Amino acid sequence: MSNFATIILAAGQGTRFKSELPKVMHRLGGIPLVEHVCRAAKNAGTDKTVVVVGHGAEIVKNHFESVGGIEFALQKQQLGTGDAAAAGCAGLGDFAGAVAILSGDVPFIEAATISSMVDLLEKSGSALVVATARPQSVEGLGRIVRNDSGQLVRIVEEKDASTEEKNITEINVGVYVARSDYLFESVSKLSNDNAQGEYYLTDIVAAALQGGKKVATCLIEDVAECFGINHRGQLALAESMLQAQIADRLMRDGVTMIRPETVTIELDVKVAGDVTIWPGVVITGTSEIAAGASIGTGAVIGDSKVGRNATIKPYSVLEQAEVGEDCSVGPFARLRPGARLLTDARVGNFVEVKNSELGRSAKAGHLSYLGDCTIGARANIGAGTITCNYDGVNKHRTIIGADAFIGSNTALVAPVKVGDRAIIGAGSTITKEVSDGSLGLSRSEQKNLAGFADKMRPRKEKK
Ligand code: UD1
Ligand code: MG
Repeated sequence: MSNFATIILAAGQGTRFKSELPKVMHRLGGIPLVEHVCRAAKNAGTDKTVVVVGHGAEIVKNHFESVGGIEFALQKQQLGTGDAAAAGCAGLGDFAGAVAILSGDVPFIEAATISSMVDLLEKSGSALVVATARPQSVEGLGRIVRNDSGQLVRIVEEKDASTEEKNITEINVGVYVARSDYLFESVSKLSNDNAQGEYYLTDIVAAALQGGKKVATCLIEDVAECFGINHRGQLALAESMLQAQIADRLMRDGVTMIRPETVTIELDVKVAGDVTIWPGVVITGTSEIAAGASIGTGAVIGDSKVGRNATIKPYSVLEQAEVGEDCSVGPFARLRPGARLLTDARVGNFVEVKNSELGRSAKAGHLSYLGDCTIGARANIGAGTITCNYDGVNKHRTIIGADAFIGSNTALVAPVKVGDRAIIGAGSTITKEVSDGSLGLSRSEQKNLAGFADKMRPRKEKK
């Protein structure tokens, strides 16, 4: 495969998005539009990637800080795609060879397409290769103008097109590969004499042909790959297209999806075989679901790990949590950052866990808050147990030993420790350490007044 560099146009505001966030930073499958394009270039084997930034430049740059391998060129004013490409060329320095120019808002472009265009540039001896497509709707797109013998003449933007040109069904995808010497020269000569008063990159086509250079076109059959995103309706459509792709990939990999069209799974999520995903599930970020797990209706799982054969019951919410093998969570459980359930642990309805570890086979069945605590293996946490981890200033830890039994409605005032095999009587407020094997009890003694209730009732009824 030949060497090439990549310029990604990502400086525009995306006026039609009506957003403060640059258009290319809006997310598709959980990652910004522009990152989809960067990944395609990288997978095609680009030597160097220059992202042209302008509107919201810092936001775009900050996003890529962790990714690495990407350079930036600043387009000071957004004067059009031709001007943006010129800024990108300046960013390429003395690079010589093939240059792919990609649009930050055409996210489905595939690595294989970029590679084949690079090959075509060389094999055809062209100065430029332009990707074209024949989508169902051509609205707002640049049209490919050909002469009677079918030879390419120029690209015309819809706003500049005659009625006849508007009827053309072949469009400009916004993806090009050019020889660097030709590109550098031609972008410096563009004019902005057109309906939008912008420097159009598309004008380099006619310029090349007029200058006696060869320009090849590459028709992309898969129209989805060419989908450009200019407004939020198209972003939503792109998301449903991507979700269908992801679901299809997962099901081919052995994942059961009961109603895939109702599920959202972000691009970087990993789901192993024999996982069952019920309707209405959302799995985002870097989440990983191991083989045999079941994810119940309405579960929302972000940046979390779910172990082999674990069951996430309906309407549970997991955020930066780790659920071990054979665990059961929910229904209606909330695992917050740092929640860690070891093998076979169980968390039931209305239990909130934060920054806490539940040991092997530990159970918290109902209505509890477990924050900043470590719970030993097989411990049983009764309904209504609260770890009082916050004194208004600092957070403190609660340690509960293996095989401990915490009676219902217990308040554990941290920092506090309950030993192995210890029992806490229901309704206790525990402020002092309970040693291994001991009973901790802090409720007041019960008093019974015989007949009192019966005496009260008639008095009330007389009124
Ligand atoms: C562009 C093409 C059009 C093509 C369509 C495909 C031009 C003149 N038109 O139109 O022929 O059919 O893409 O999707 O090229 N950008 C900058 N700086 C600017 C302006 C734009 O970096 O000054 C970036 C944008 O951030 C975007 C890309 O260039 O990522 C394309 O710009 P956009 O305004 O969306 O062009 P389209 O109208 O879609
Ligand atoms: Mg566009």
